[in-house]
Amino acid sequence: MGEKKFKRTTVTAALPYANGGVHIGHLAGVYVPSDIYARYLRLKKEEVVFIGGSDEHGVPITLRAKKEGVTPQDVCDRYHKMIKDSFREFGISFDVYSRTTSETHHKFASDFFRKLYDDGKLIEQETEQLYDEEAKQFLADRYVVGECPHCHNEHAYGDQCEKCGSDLSPMELINPQSTISGSKPVVKTTKNWYLPLNNYQEWLKQWILNEHKEWRPNVYGQCKSWLDMDLQPRAMTRDLNWGIPVPVEGAEGKVLYVWFDAPIGYISNTKELCDSNPEKFGSWQKWWQDPETRLIHFIGKDNIVFHCLIFPSMLKAHGDYILPDNVPSNEFLNLENDKISTSRNWAVWLHEYLVDFPNKQDVLRYVLTANAPETKDNNLLGRISKSATTANSWQFMATS
Ligand code: MF3
Ligand code: ZN
Repeated sequence: MGEKKFKRTTVTAALPYANGGVHIGHLAGVYVPSDIYARYLRLKKEEVVFIGGSDEHGVPITLRAKKEGVTPQDVCDRYHKMIKDSFREFGISFDVYSRTTSETHHKFASDFFRKLYDDGKLIEQETEQLYDEEAKQFLADRYVVGECPHCHNEHAYGDQCEKCGSDLSPMELINPQSTISGSKPVVKTTKNWYLPLNNYQEWLKQWILNEHKEWRPNVYGQCKSWLDMDLQPRAMTRDLNWGIPVPVEGAEGKVLYVWFDAPIGYISNTKELCDSNPEKFGSWQKWWQDPETRLIHFIGKDNIVFHCLIFPSMLKAHGDYILPDNVPSNEFLNLENDKISTSRNWAVWLHEYLVDFPNKQDVLRYVLTANAPETKDNNLLGRISKSATTANSWQFMATS
């Protein structure tokens, strides 16, 4: 990983959304590899912190809460506990596992945004958005349903038609309907704050394409294909009532975009760790602002653009931070040809596995490590399966 000599390493693992369990695709791609790496550094007696936590904002959590008739915080509390417990039981050796609804995080992310705002690093832009006049709120794309303009499926979402797979914008839907009140949304102008990624494009090209040719080919390739296009300003705030309030006057009803605050969670969770045990870990700044610290983000491939382009641009705009030295990302682990996360009947959930197979953590770690989908998507069927008839029976097949 580069020629530079580092004194210590900050290892992060993507913060899972607190609206579901962790499944073995996540384990294989992110948590087992990052855990192995952190344990390896500790064995070498190197200085290391391994940072995890739950990602508790964003639209899907609010949709699940609405469906279940509970608050978004209830949803987060339930899944945060489930995820945290199963990571601990499985032996993922995080030094800290916190959450983005913590007070420390809210303040930290809010201050981070405010510094970018005060330093003139953000631009204001007006856009037209669908608005629910009965509920008196702007509608996130997922909150709008209607008929798909391509295949005429009547239950398409404002961001995507799940029948024909087209990406949609909510304005394209025929007979749009708000999922909050059922009323017909109207178009209204709204203002949000954007990070002008276009201003960082040349710098990103130099930093990644020239200075990080050693990154894995899948990561480097995805970065290159983005950087070969013109980057556009990207909204860092949203009209939504779940998240961290935008700390600017006149921004009522707006929150920080989930992909703005979530990666800052790595930093605020490090702060929480250091504040709780300063003798052992020192100051959080040491792990995030000292050029002699090596920063490594373990992520899934659907997170590449956020960790390689957007978050580094945020850190660069802020000015006080180091940048990742590497962003290891695996491909997906599939069951047959279906992504594990979408093949629901087959999804092997960590918390269920731990109940079915107490004390068999090492077996699963071995199977996942042996099948790690490092360079291409890998199919797991034939190696592990869940019997369709007896929900509680898992089988490991003795194939190569
Ligand atoms: N919750 C995101 C996902 O599951 C990952 C967030 S990683 C972080 O895809 F950088 F935002 F923390
Ligand atoms: Zn369609």
